[in-house]
Amino acid sequence: MTDAITAAPKAPIDWSTIVRRLLKPVVFTISCLPVLWLGWLALNNGLGANPIEKLIRYNGDWALRFLLIGLAVTPIRLVTGWTEIARVRRMLGLFAFFYVCLHLSAYVGLDRFFDWRAIWADILKRVYITVGMGAFLTLIPLAITSTAGMVKRMGAKNWRRMHRVIYFTTIAAIIHYIMMLKAGYQEPALYGAILAVLLAIRAVKKWP
Ligand code: HEM
Repeated sequence: MTDAITAAPKAPIDWSTIVRRLLKPVVFTISCLPVLWLGWLALNNGLGANPIEKLIRYNGDWALRFLLIGLAVTPIRLVTGWTEIARVRRMLGLFAFFYVCLHLSAYVGLDRFFDWRAIWADILKRVYITVGMGAFLTLIPLAITSTAGMVKRMGAKNWRRMHRVIYFTTIAAIIHYIMMLKAGYQEPALYGAILAVLLAIRAVKKWP
């Protein structure tokens, strides 16, 4: 006699549903790791001889990396056809903004002790700070208009057009990085090369 329970066909594992459900929480958790690691270092005297410089540089690095990771979403979708990945683009952009805010706060609060005159003088005199500030200012409207309600209010076309400024932001951030260096340009050169590849993939795939 056949057992009705054992004879029932096994439902196939629905991988696409699992991936869809896990994508956002996994990306969110991974994106929090740099700041959690920084907190762990801070609590364990792991920030080195110049902790303020470490805080500024570490958060600046991660801000730029998240800008690039966010810009990689569309090329990955275009190359692989995996449309689901577009769901994490906004989150990645907001993480870039989050790390820029930490970067800027460390500079304003810890490096310059909220001395607004000194900060203003820096913005005017040190060109890499001027460029960094320019990049930061372009991110504010993008962060404010990142909600679904704002996309609706602005209209998808206008919203997309406005959010194209992110290319300028990323280029400005790389220039900001190069300008603050006196030697050892490998890392910003690598970021510049990654940005060039991402832009080339978009251009080729969307052509004509
Ligand atoms: C989109 C905006 C920005 C991004 C992505 C960014 C990114 C970076 C990166 C990658 C570095 C080099 C880190 C390293 O050496 O490993 C850096 C350095 C620095 N950034 Fe920014 N930055 C931005 C905006 C700003 C703004 C608005 C300010 C201040 C007004 C600022 C102040 C600084 C300072 C002072 C350093 C040099 C720290 C040092 O000499 O040790 N940045 N930034």
